[in-house]
Amino acid sequence: MLFACSGYDVMLYDVISDQLQSALVDIEAQLSALYKEGLQRSSLTLAEVKGHICTTTILEECVTGAIYIQECVPENRDLKRDVWRQIDDVITPDDVVFATSTSAIVPSLLSDHLKKRHRFMVAHPANPPLLNPMVELVPAPWTEPAAVDRARALMEVIGQVPIVLNKEIDGFVQARIQAAIIHVAWQLVSEDYVDVESLETAMSEGLGGWYAFMGPFDVEHINADGFVDLCKKYGAKAEQVQKTFPKPELMQGPAAKKLTRDLQQWTPSNRLTDRCRWRDRRMSALLQLKRKLDEEGKREELK
Ligand SMILES: NC(=O)c1ccc[n+]([C@@H]2O[C@H](COP(=O)([O-])OP(=O)(O)OC[C@H]3O[C@@H](n4cnc5c(N)ncnc54)[C@H](O)[C@@H]3O)[C@@H](O)[C@H]2O)c1
Repeated sequence: MLFACSGYDVMLYDVISDQLQSALVDIEAQLSALYKEGLQRSSLTLAEVKGHICTTTILEECVTGAIYIQECVPENRDLKRDVWRQIDDVITPDDVVFATSTSAIVPSLLSDHLKKRHRFMVAHPANPPLLNPMVELVPAPWTEPAAVDRARALMEVIGQVPIVLNKEIDGFVQARIQAAIIHVAWQLVSEDYVDVESLETAMSEGLGGWYAFMGPFDVEHINADGFVDLCKKYGAKAEQVQKTFPKPELMQGPAAKKLTRDLQQWTPSNRLTDRCRWRDRRMSALLQLKRKLDEEGKREELK
């Protein structure tokens, strides 16, 4: 959707043709919602965007002549390696970008067997990509910088906000931060320091207010007289708190059951889709607000 909105021709490939038909229906629904909210990415009409998307069940037809390939097959290392081997065997120009959506597999584990491994990287979108523009670009040790530059430029053209890691690490950036948050949140709830509702409120009504607009270091930098002052005043306390973090453990047992019961009270399993729509409506409103503020900021700078 993001590439088509910018006028690129997109070819979707799947081994199950029904999946391609469902994808087209889903794309129509998602784009209609986007246009209704006034969040379309370009001056193209909805019909023009749809006209840029084709489907095929033949891999060679999909990748031949492509400038950018985004693989999104299920999160299974052997399957992904095999799909990439097939792509690698099809003649593609040397400046093509090989990108995988993997959420958790470092790129070296998916690309060491490829002839074009120097063009390979992770391009991990944040969910849902239409409303959440950040995308993590993670090179393998052998990825050439020109390939990353090309991917970054393409992401910027389609209106995404890429971040580039200098080297691979488990969880990349976003999932590592989320893992740290979940680790601490699990301790607070499972050891009964706070109930799950209050924990969620601390994020949505407290920390979330900052983090929609700035990152943790920037937050700390302006919370004191700069980051150095912050470290001087609160660094030792932060270290003391960090020392009380527990060892990682699987989230299971009676505490997990209680947590599930509490979460079910807000969102029963049969209403998860509604809750996703609720989230997307709010993310859409936030994105609109951020765009408006950015525009106003630009005008202020020009005065
Ligand atoms: N769902 C998310 O929120 C999300 C976000 C970021 C990244 N990712 C990553 O994207 C990838 C896909 O996740 P998903 O949730 O969309 O999976 P999914 O299971 O919903 O979709 C995978 C698709 O791949 C197709 N497929 C299976 N084998 C194939 C093959 N050999 N060749 C071509 N197509 C094949 C399936 O038919 C299916 O349509 C995973 O690596 C996941 O970690 C997912």
